Amino acid sequence: MTDNTRPTDSLTQQRAAAAAAALPVSCPSVDPLSSILPEEPLLMMGAGPVPIPDAVAKANSVVINHLGDTMARVIDQVKTMARYVFQTRSNWVLGVAGPGSAAMEMAVSNLAWPGTRVLSIVNGFFSARMAEMARRVGAEVTTLEVADREIVSLDTLAQAIERTRPEVVTVVHGETSNTVWNRQLQDIVRVAKAVGALVVVDAVCTLSTMPLDMDAWGIDVVITGGQKGLSSIPGVSLIAFSDAAWDRVRERTVPNTHWCLDAMLAENFWHNAGYHYTAPVSGVLALHEALRLVCTETLEKRFARHQRCSLALQSGVTALGLELYTPETCRLNSVVGIALPASVTPRDVCNHISRQYQVEIAGSFGLPIVRIGQMGEQCREHHLFRTVHALGRTMCDLGADVDLPAGVAALEESLSAAGRR
Ligand SMILES: Cc1ncc(COP(=O)(O)O)c(C=O)c1O
Repeated sequence: MTDNTRPTDSLTQQRAAAAAAALPVSCPSVDPLSSILPEEPLLMMGAGPVPIPDAVAKANSVVINHLGDTMARVIDQVKTMARYVFQTRSNWVLGVAGPGSAAMEMAVSNLAWPGTRVLSIVNGFFSARMAEMARRVGAEVTTLEVADREIVSLDTLAQAIERTRPEVVTVVHGETSNTVWNRQLQDIVRVAKAVGALVVVDAVCTLSTMPLDMDAWGIDVVITGGQKGLSSIPGVSLIAFSDAAWDRVRERTVPNTHWCLDAMLAENFWHNAGYHYTAPVSGVLALHEALRLVCTETLEKRFARHQRCSLALQSGVTALGLELYTPETCRLNSVVGIALPASVTPRDVCNHISRQYQVEIAGSFGLPIVRIGQMGEQCREHHLFRTVHALGRTMCDLGADVDLPAGVAALEESLSAAGRR
């Protein structure tokens, strides 16, 4: 209430509000989707979601019974294929109805509770999220903050581990926000396991785009989303627990404050064909097809395709005259960060390239960069040519000094040099 508001005014307002509340809510008039969505679909070259193959789109339009033999068979195959993609023989693979963050939260909230000692290696926006999730379940969280565009030193990590004696360590494989690749992930796991910690790895933007061997590297939990490397739809995610992690989940005596994300309840659906909640069946069918396409391609060939395309994109961008944000020593291939000249903002670039060239790329949470994804279906040559051309044209349109022909030529040279099938 402002100083000059008289009590009778607010009384009148309250009466009017009460009278309005008694009326039925009238039926709204809204625009159909066809008038909201662009006529030509945008090419999704941002940090996810990514384009989906036809087989995935078709599966996503089907609804079947969420329980019963057909679904049980689908779930069984999803788990089998997920084990291949995670490179694990663990039984404890589950799907999660929710974004990658829900899978992160399932990992954290099932392994940590009030008093659990958690060490979170924080490389940026997404790795900080796991620390925050652990705080919210009451864990004693220590964060190991790593400078932007750097990776943690193993000595610093060993000291932090010695000091804090964590029961759980969280780390991201690829920090999508600043495009840093924790390329020494295997060593991080080794150092953490030496004190018996369970290691949770966020592989949301890296799974199926680059090697990650859950069992061979000794990782306890790996999580991923559907909408990135796997090229499925957003909203259905995957998580795998090692036997040791599953034992901790099974033997916890502290009640789980989550219900949907309680892994023991989720097991009933994912392992016993029983009811937990109504699973997002269409999304699970889509994920099935996405995983099947990974298996058809094989991981080896998929990793090679990702590397070839990402390196070609990087050389195209560099030849345009733009700088890559992250040094080569820790540069993520799955999402490429591009530093912008001071004369343009990420918002200008993203808006312009989307409106004028129907290519969608991403900014990044306040950093002076744009990001182009190289995950799953984004790694196709025709998408790369269109994207480098659109980026170059956008920069010219916005008055920046770039060499468009040189960028496209460098892309072609890199792809040719790497050999085409
Ligand atoms: C590394 C990483 N972790 C977690 C997430 C969160 O995934 P979602 O947005 O599906 O919740 C993202 C999303 O971009 C990510 O890149």
